[in-house]
Amino acid sequence: MAISIKITKTSQSRIELYDFEQVQFGNVFSDHMFVADYIDGEWTNIEVLPFQHLSLSPSTFALHYGQAIFEGMKAFKNNKGEAQLFRPLENHKRLNISAKRMGMIEVPEELFMTGLKTLIDVDRDWIPTKQGSALYIRPFMFATDNFVGVRPAKHFKFIIFTCPVNAYYPKPIKVVVEQHYVRAFDGGVGFAKAAGNYGISMLPTLEANQKGFDQIIWTDGREHKYIEESGTMNVFFVIGDTVVTPNLDGTILAGITRDSCIALLKQKGYKVEERKISVDEIIDAHKNGHLKDAFGAGTAAIIAKIASFNYEGTDYALPPAEERVVSNWLYQTLYGIQTSTVPDNFGWIDLV
Ligand code: COI
Repeated sequence: MAISIKITKTSQSRIELYDFEQVQFGNVFSDHMFVADYIDGEWTNIEVLPFQHLSLSPSTFALHYGQAIFEGMKAFKNNKGEAQLFRPLENHKRLNISAKRMGMIEVPEELFMTGLKTLIDVDRDWIPTKQGSALYIRPFMFATDNFVGVRPAKHFKFIIFTCPVNAYYPKPIKVVVEQHYVRAFDGGVGFAKAAGNYGISMLPTLEANQKGFDQIIWTDGREHKYIEESGTMNVFFVIGDTVVTPNLDGTILAGITRDSCIALLKQKGYKVEERKISVDEIIDAHKNGHLKDAFGAGTAAIIAKIASFNYEGTDYALPPAEERVVSNWLYQTLYGIQTSTVPDNFGWIDLV
């Protein structure tokens, strides 16, 4: 597919309105967005245009039946001031894994990559450079059929927009092990980045927040015995000298940050195990003094240290953040690779 993108630039940039050092995560949007429509079997209306509202019929399919998926990725500036992406092809692959599971059209690699790079090029001045900041990129796709009957949709809109962001969590997070609600189940969509996975997490998160917790540790849907994810992130524990993380069994999102952490840890010589981890094992490790570190890993937060976890009303505190060898090293190394202050031995960086 030869991609031709119509580019319309804004006549009035909004960039001067914002102090990038102060922006919150996710409520400031860059000047432009990329849009493409899948209509009658082909991709059309392929454009970079000023960021703007959409005009949708109230009957838009995704609003009723949830055929909607998204990705999260980031652009950074390196020390020469060049714009660069971190493992963008992995996001493209995962978008299509989600699309397939949700019965949606797959996005061709060239459309994804050309649209993405054109947008980042046009809005390269929006990439912040303060330590810990990035340009967060949100590719997403939803069903646009104007139809309230229930059958897989035939028309889709694929959009990418971006937000300059600072740290997602200002400090280590307090989490609670979920014993009632379930995020995902065997045969479901837990492995996909489907909008509905986030929708069903809102009430449990609200309840956890009301009890003073930042996030939930999701457990398996059969017994609430095995740990799955932490909020919107994959989760890692350091027990003794071994780093453990739940294996990808269909209910867990295959995080690109997760995969990068595993690769970096193995290269550094750590023993890494991807396997089932029971809540009991983590509590025992805590009681025996073997639980050295616990953290979430995701695109938005990169590494989010867990300050404490609560299980059945008891709080279990983790060692102080500054003493965490693994999570501190991983954050420095990953963010260092993303911004090119640490060499990229894996070929993860893609210049724009
Ligand atoms: C991520 O960190 O990858 C996420 O998906 C978080 C996002 C939903 C803000």
